[in-house]
Amino acid sequence: MALDRPRVLSGIQPTSGSFHLGNYLGAVRQWVAQQETHDAFYMVVDLHALTVVQDAEALRANARIAAAQLLAAGLDPERCTVFIQSHVPEHAQLAWVLNCLTGFGEASRMTQFKDKSVKQGADRTTVGLFTYPVLMAADILLYRSDAVPVGGDQRQHLELTRVLAERFNARYGETFTVPDAFIVPETARITDLQDPSVKMSKSASTPKGIVNLLDEPRSSAKKIRSAVTDTDTVIRYDEEKKPGISNLLTIYASLADTTVAELEQRYEGKGYGALKTDLADVLLDWVTPFRDRTREYLDDPGTLNSILAQGAEKARAVAAETLALVYERVGFLTAKH
Ligand code: TRP
Repeated sequence: MALDRPRVLSGIQPTSGSFHLGNYLGAVRQWVAQQETHDAFYMVVDLHALTVVQDAEALRANARIAAAQLLAAGLDPERCTVFIQSHVPEHAQLAWVLNCLTGFGEASRMTQFKDKSVKQGADRTTVGLFTYPVLMAADILLYRSDAVPVGGDQRQHLELTRVLAERFNARYGETFTVPDAFIVPETARITDLQDPSVKMSKSASTPKGIVNLLDEPRSSAKKIRSAVTDTDTVIRYDEEKKPGISNLLTIYASLADTTVAELEQRYEGKGYGALKTDLADVLLDWVTPFRDRTREYLDDPGTLNSILAQGAEKARAVAAETLALVYERVGFLTAKH
């Protein structure tokens, strides 16, 4: 891993077992590409997952499934650092320091918190959910990441991270790198197959709208074939007028490594049925080996554990150094004093 490469870091929640197509095309695929050009750190954020009530065994299983899928998607432990957030205690330690630097009002303005807490009601909303963005800032700042590939919904959290980094640096001296957001372009927004006006998400209104990568491939192919489209017949990218077709074109172009323009040409004069059938096959061909690779990792816990242990060790080497500096700067007693 070349030391002069810029550093990236990102995280994904292990909440839902299987990743869906939106997770993969909107984030994980970008991670795989960036391991070639960056000094990359990628983690499964199980501490963040605890902001929602979790069954302990399910959380443990989902963390392993998430890690297995990251590896199956092409993250290579020789080229990047893959780890589980809770394996590196420095995340929670730095989060405390940053909590003490974050205004109550400032945290209260985070729109994701506002949305979620309104939905859940104050009594079911935890303080953990409130400080979720501060923990995310700790994740990022510990590694002095230059860039953070995230979906558009994380933009505000990234902005808070930058503000906290600058505040710390101004108060205690240059310590943190102020990271840039890297909002994943084009495929950032994969939409629901049944309601193309909303983002594909695990809280989809109907299971038919979401393609889970670990589902039976034939059932996923069927979902593509029954995706909601408009009543026109022309295959053309137009998010406004043809959100369903546009979404299918985006998915197709990404999975088949081609462009939307090329697909528009290829399907000129052909109907929606042809596009859907072909995309269903493309998906089937991609998802089947992905699923097999994931299963192989899950069937071999010894290998998976050792990859994650090595990842944690590499991550900790960086995180511990940053935290030691922070502890020193804020005035904690250390061995030196
Ligand atoms: N909050 C992010 C999400 O829901 C996940 C996350 C946690 C993350 N820590 C991070 C993303 C650090 C990037 C960097 O998508």
